[in-house]
Amino acid sequence: MLEDKHELVDKFGRRFNYLRLSITDVCNFSCSYCLPNGYQCDTPRTFLTQTEITNVVSAFAKLGTKKIRITGGEPCLRKDLPAIIERCKATSGITEVALTTNGFNLFDNIDEYKAAGLDAINVSIDSLDPNMFKLITGHDKLQHILKGIARAQQIGIKRIKVNAVLAKAFNHNQLKDYLAWIKHQAVTVRFIELMETGNGTQFFEQNHLSGQGVKESLLAAGWLQVVKGTLNGPAQEFWHPDYQGRIGLIMPYSKNFCQSCNRLRISALGKLHLCLFADQGIDLRSALNCGTPEQAVEQTVKLLRSAMSNKTISHELDKRFTGATKHLAMLGG
Ligand code: 5AD
Ligand code: SF4
Repeated sequence: MLEDKHELVDKFGRRFNYLRLSITDVCNFSCSYCLPNGYQCDTPRTFLTQTEITNVVSAFAKLGTKKIRITGGEPCLRKDLPAIIERCKATSGITEVALTTNGFNLFDNIDEYKAAGLDAINVSIDSLDPNMFKLITGHDKLQHILKGIARAQQIGIKRIKVNAVLAKAFNHNQLKDYLAWIKHQAVTVRFIELMETGNGTQFFEQNHLSGQGVKESLLAAGWLQVVKGTLNGPAQEFWHPDYQGRIGLIMPYSKNFCQSCNRLRISALGKLHLCLFADQGIDLRSALNCGTPEQAVEQTVKLLRSAMSNKTISHELDKRFTGATKHLAMLGG
């Protein structure tokens, strides 16, 4: 195929057709496993500008990327998010623009995001119990966030996912609550195994839980595993004829998890991260700003291609290496 030689493929044959683009590392929540003391601004910084975002997305699109996920921190804190969505969606080759958010302003802004071209959302809800939700995030916002999701459904956002990080302290016995919720909701709830980050060692040691228990409960209750294509990323998905929603499981500690890696990440400061747990990012900013937009895109394409040879086969979380990742607000998970 003619297209193949333009694609980003690493030395293990993995194709990267999906970009996670962080546009800020600021967050207004203080989730216990991520920013337990809230966001701390330690150094002055300038996040990617709209022009830089346009250039980086164009470079990735030239290399076969079709899907962009906008992440943070909390990306909805950026006032120019609608313009960013619009620019991503207008890039030739990009067919899907998704957003990962804590959902704090979804109810008020989802109409505008949809009008800008947003196709899909992932909203973090680590507990469906309002008190527990407040305890985890520091904000009594569960009902408001659920209203935002309902609004998204109402206006026709088709792909809606809810992320729940599995942790002993907050939701290991709440599978039934999530199941009751998705019985009549076309939402996919994805349980994510808690990952160890540089700042989160103690929380990890006290709370990490394998997703295997959830998988066994689902299979015992008649849930069926969806057979996936190879380009679908590392989540396992389950469906049940009596439920409108689906369940997903993201188990980074399971064997061969990284084999289906299909994503690359750009930090809000313009660094390419080959893995969530890489030791360092590759700075794209000077390439993104060199000369005309065409020249900037061309330079960035060159850098991306040469970076591919450095992608390693797997993270080393099982050996408790967390790379330079202090918390996931740095990179958007
Ligand atoms: N382990 C697993 N998931 C995490 N997230 C943030 N920190 C961690 C962690 N240490 C999740 C958030 C959000 C997504 C972007 O990443 O809950 O759903
Ligand atoms: Fe913010 Fe997401 Fe981290 Fe929670 S997990 S503090 S919502 S960046």
